[in-house]
Amino acid sequence: MSLSIPTVTCQSIVPTADAATRAGGEVAIEDFDCVEIYCESAKQLTFMLSHGFGFRPVGYKGPETGCRDSVSYVLRQGTVQLVVTSYLTPASPIAHFVATHGTAVRDVAYRVPDCEAAYYAALSRGAQSAEAPAAWSDEHGFVKRAAIRTYGETIHSFVERSSYAGLFWPGYVPFSTAFPDMVDVAEAGIQRIDHVVGNVELGKMDEWVRFYEEVLGFSQFKHFTDADISTEYSALMSKVMSGGSGKIKMPINEPAQGRRKSQIEEYLDFNGGPGVQHIAFQTNDILGVVERLRQRGVRFLRVPKTYYDEVPHRVGGIKEDLERIAGLGVLVDRDEDGYLLQIFTKTIHDRPTLFFEIIQREGSQGFGKGNFKALFEAIEREQQARGNL
Ligand code: FE2
Repeated sequence: MSLSIPTVTCQSIVPTADAATRAGGEVAIEDFDCVEIYCESAKQLTFMLSHGFGFRPVGYKGPETGCRDSVSYVLRQGTVQLVVTSYLTPASPIAHFVATHGTAVRDVAYRVPDCEAAYYAALSRGAQSAEAPAAWSDEHGFVKRAAIRTYGETIHSFVERSSYAGLFWPGYVPFSTAFPDMVDVAEAGIQRIDHVVGNVELGKMDEWVRFYEEVLGFSQFKHFTDADISTEYSALMSKVMSGGSGKIKMPINEPAQGRRKSQIEEYLDFNGGPGVQHIAFQTNDILGVVERLRQRGVRFLRVPKTYYDEVPHRVGGIKEDLERIAGLGVLVDRDEDGYLLQIFTKTIHDRPTLFFEIIQREGSQGFGKGNFKALFEAIEREQQARGNL
């Protein structure tokens, strides 16, 4: 591959006295910016996400573009941006991360209007720094980024990109330039990130709830107890934190006492501690998306056929065809605001940790509480098969 290597500069930003107090000391967040996943082979995961899930590779950086120790692909579908990164040398900190966690989310990045204000306000409210503010620039302008730590080895970047007109980030070249022989993949109908769920240790949920409240100014949106989310064997507790004028939803789970190992404990064991459990992608055509994903070989958790016997009684009238819903294994739930359709993939790598959800909201702002029991029993069947229950 011979590429014109982009000229990129990265400059750290000298803190200014007023940065923390701009925006009234609040951490102003506009939306999710991107989610970065660290993995053993970015090439392989990109192949899976594009050919399986319909994410279009749009950007690349690696040794051919002057990046000597890591390789990253940027993928897009709807407004979702995923960055898939792998290490090239064993000394890389990414290698250590992947050895510990396997394929796992490193960064749930938020788009902000003012990177330095967000970062210094977060620090003044008790956040720990992961990365001091810096500006990357090329001929298309500049992007500013800083980052704070959250649960496990996960971070939240604050990305300010209003002065950047390039593809994604200085240093990336278009995927089609880097790989002119690759065929384009068709998107599958995923539109945006709905929520990103974290699993934390027993007794730590409220600590992280306070972190999102106090540091990031989020508020508690929903609360599920182990009475809502339990089966004969396992239980969990969950609180949903919401910020960015409601655009950001970050549920946080902790295990609750069950008769056997809960799915959250299994996650913590195999992830080597807390981290992101799943990313939910929103669509307005879940049946079309799931049909396309199934045809492309994506595998989903299955609930027993009997689940659908109770749906008409539990959920009432919906505009979708129940037979088609049942055929695809999509779950349905209703609350006071409307209904939702959702489905969960099997884990996307070998460890029983990270998976995806596809969700369609028809008024409901919930998370499928009515499905938890059926769903957890499906997860437990998988745990059982792995010998972890
Ligand atoms: Fe979810």
